[in-house]
This record gives sequence, structure tokens and C-alpha cells, in this order.
Amino acid sequence: MAEIAASLSKPGGGDQRPRHVAIIMDGNGRWAKNRGWPRLVGHRRGAERVKQIVRACPDLGVNWLTVYAFSTENWKRSTEEVLGLMGIFARYIEREADGLSAEGVRMRFIGGRERLEPKLQRLMAGIEARTAGNTRLNLTVAINYGGRDELTRAAARLAARIGRGEVAEPTEADLADCLDTAGHPDPDLVIRTSGETRTSNFLPFQAAYSEYEFTQTLWPDFTPEHLAEILDRYGLRDRRFGGA
Ligand code: IPE
Ligand code: IPE
Ligand code: MG
Repeated sequence: MAEIAASLSKPGGGDQRPRHVAIIMDGNGRWAKNRGWPRLVGHRRGAERVKQIVRACPDLGVNWLTVYAFSTENWKRSTEEVLGLMGIFARYIEREADGLSAEGVRMRFIGGRERLEPKLQRLMAGIEARTAGNTRLNLTVAINYGGRDELTRAAARLAARIGRGEVAEPTEADLADCLDTAGHPDPDLVIRTSGETRTSNFLPFQAAYSEYEFTQTLWPDFTPEHLAEILDRYGLRDRRFGGA
């Protein structure tokens, strides 16, 4: 009790809230399999969860939410699953556009876009432009995202900037400025659902000092109440960043 009281009264402790939460939304396939349903049913249910979590974030004090929707490794899955997922992304943007705009959500995407269907690319660019002035919640969706791919593309951009004489001695900030997340704050907290304890190529540069939370809950079962609980636990953490 005394310990909890001490941590609550400590500056930055107890009631600290993560400004930026990133989520590795895992477990859709197992959720469907447990019910004898096709994997895509799990992905559809997962997309419904994203809507709920997005709505809950501002009231929980979260101003930045980044979600991992499709990795550079996920192309290894069946054509049916990949196409199904791409359809879910397109429909999400089409159906949520009005709601997101009205709720003050700024939606952006990270990851390589060239490999995505032109129609999906157009929808992505459209919603980014339409919501660019919103500030209540910054929602970033990682599609065809891989941290190593992002760093490789960033290295090429940085080399071009050095070649043009815009950068002399590159710093960490210069590299960060070449990432897909240029201008975004680093995630304070990364959550992975479904019990897997790995990062699967998610934000290796940006999450270098993030707190991690792994939960057994499968993504289609993950509710705003689960998120609120995790945020409460985060409040008790001591983030030292290498200091004493
Ligand atoms: C996460 O759920 C969604 C994506 C990776 C697209 P999975 O599809 O990985 O679900 P599991 O891990 O097979 O249960
Ligand atoms: C990570 O989940 C990618 C997303 C959640 C989009 P995976 O299910 O693809 O990762 P692994 O295969 O378990 O590492
Ligand atoms: Mg998985």
C-alpha cells in the first residue's frame, strides 16, 4: 500500500498516461479456428475491435494510436487470406471515413504502398488528406509494414539527402526524419495480444525504449476495458531511460 502510494506521488509515476500506444493485433486466426470458422471471419471481427478501440482512446487520454494490420511477412499467407484482408482494409476506410472525420481522428498509414492495389492506395491517400486537420486522435495503420523494410528505405532516403548536401553528419534525428513515422512521437507502450512474446518486425527504431505489455487475450476479444486495465498498470511503471 505504502509502495503504491509512493509510486503515485512520484513525479511522472502512478497517474502517468501513455500518450502513444501501439498495438500488435494478433490472434484473429486462432479466434476463428477455435470456433471452427474461416480465418477471415476472425479478421472481420478484428476490424470491428479496431473501431471500438479507436473510439475509446481519446477518453482514456491516448492521443496517438498505431496499429499493426499487415506485415511485410504476411504476404506469405494464402491468396484468399491476403485478398480478404486487403478488402477489409478498403471497406474500413470507405465505411469509417465519415465517422473518423466527425470524431476528429487523423488517419495515416505507414509501410510500403507500391505493392498495394491502386484502389486501396487511392483510398488511403484520400482519407489521409481528408482527415489531415484533425487532432483529437492520431491513428496510424501499418499496412505492408516491416521495420527492416522501413529502415532500408529510410537509409536510401538519408543517403540521397547526404548526396544533395542537405545533411552533413547524420544524426539519429536525421534517420528518424526519413522513417515512415517522421514527425510522430515514439510509442510509450506497445501491446501484443494473443500470447506471442515477439515484436515481429514492428517499429524496431521507434519502440527502442517503449514499455511492452503482452496479453493472452486474442485480438477479437480485446475490449476497451482490457485497454483501460493495461493503461492503469502502465501508470505504475518506472521509466528510467538509462538514468539512475
Ligand atoms: C493478426 O491475426 C492479423 C494479421 C496478422 C493480419 P493472425 O491472422 O496472425 O492470427 P493468428 O496469429 O493466426 O491467430
Ligand atoms: C504480426 O503478426 C503482424 C500483425 C499483427 C499484422 P503475425 O501473426 O504475422 O506474426 P508472427 O508470424 O506470429 O510473428
Ligand atoms: Mg498471428
